[in-house]
Amino acid sequence: MVPFLDLSRHVASLKPAIKEGLASVVDSGIFVLGPEIAQFEKNLAEYCGTRFAVACASGSEALLMALMAIDLKPGDEVIVPSFTFFATASAVVRLGGTPVFADICPDSLNMDPADVERKITSRTRAILPVHLFGRAADMEKLDAIAKAHGLELIEDCAQAIGAEAVLADGQNHRVGSMGSIGCFSFYPTKNLGTMGDGGALTTQNEALAEKLKLLRGHGMQPRYFHKIIGINGRLDAFQGIVLNQKFPFLDGWTAERQQIAERYLDLFKSKPALADKIQLPAQASSGRMVWNQFCICTNERNDLEKFLADRKIGTAIYYPFGLHEQECFRYLNYAPEDLPVTYRVSRSILALPIFPGLTSAEQEEVVEGIAEFYK
Ligand SMILES: Cc1ncc(COP(=O)(O)O)c(C=O)c1O
Repeated sequence: MVPFLDLSRHVASLKPAIKEGLASVVDSGIFVLGPEIAQFEKNLAEYCGTRFAVACASGSEALLMALMAIDLKPGDEVIVPSFTFFATASAVVRLGGTPVFADICPDSLNMDPADVERKITSRTRAILPVHLFGRAADMEKLDAIAKAHGLELIEDCAQAIGAEAVLADGQNHRVGSMGSIGCFSFYPTKNLGTMGDGGALTTQNEALAEKLKLLRGHGMQPRYFHKIIGINGRLDAFQGIVLNQKFPFLDGWTAERQQIAERYLDLFKSKPALADKIQLPAQASSGRMVWNQFCICTNERNDLEKFLADRKIGTAIYYPFGLHEQECFRYLNYAPEDLPVTYRVSRSILALPIFPGLTSAEQEEVVEGIAEFYK
């Protein structure tokens, strides 16, 4: 038996400190925002290499607030990948904008800059790449395209805290520091997770940081004077405690994820019979991958998933369809194979267990299970 995800393992040693932190929140009477959140914002900005960070209620609200901050207007188009979680595109629609779906590259599974360029129109306002599964998108090319066309570049960093890309200056840059705004989720399955919902935005721009803070609290400043229309995007104090307690361990957990990924790659290499059956995740030649997911592709995906489930080996399908195929986006009139790579990958992808605390023996069981399926 191998669980797809076990969140209890990496927090086991932190439990006493987190429980103490929860008690201190109860005693303090400060339940929303407050000093723990302010401390977390400092920690996050420093980690990402940005001047500012603004904590918020979730990754979905972060995306919405980022688009509100750039004054996205009804009718504006935002180019997003179709192969992503729903919130990347729904944020655009919540403001009356139109998501324009770009295809992905078959190796990185991230937004294809060439397709982005093809989809720019006079109505395009922004490009919104996702750093999928812990791998940074091709930010050098996307940044050049955004600059050449005068577009905003907003990063969806939900799955990739700490991932890095190399830009035109030849240097590594952390996700969240390359676009005008970075959007993070701290949903429990993320590499840095809360014990509830949580999110944040990062930016190098002071005016944007101030606007994001205003947007988080109904545009109110001072109390009951509303400068702009905002939302309730505030984060609980308790989540600040959890995030601050966990933060010093993030790089260790990331190193563990990287080791698990390497071990999977070695285990698969030791089974040459699988070489033409399974497409392994491609490793980036530069930058830093943080492995939120380890995904293989295979033509027998559905049967393999069932075979492994029968042996109590957990896997997951991220994502079974491109967003362009979703019922709520039918009005945009995409045919499923309009985005051929997204279509093909969504039918063949399977995520294997990867989380801090996963043992070598469990990894071997996963790979042996796959080898047995193909015997
Ligand atoms: C790529 C991506 N964007 C946005 C989100 C939304 O984050 P949240 O669940 O915190 O609202 C997620 C999280 O599931 C995600 O994976």
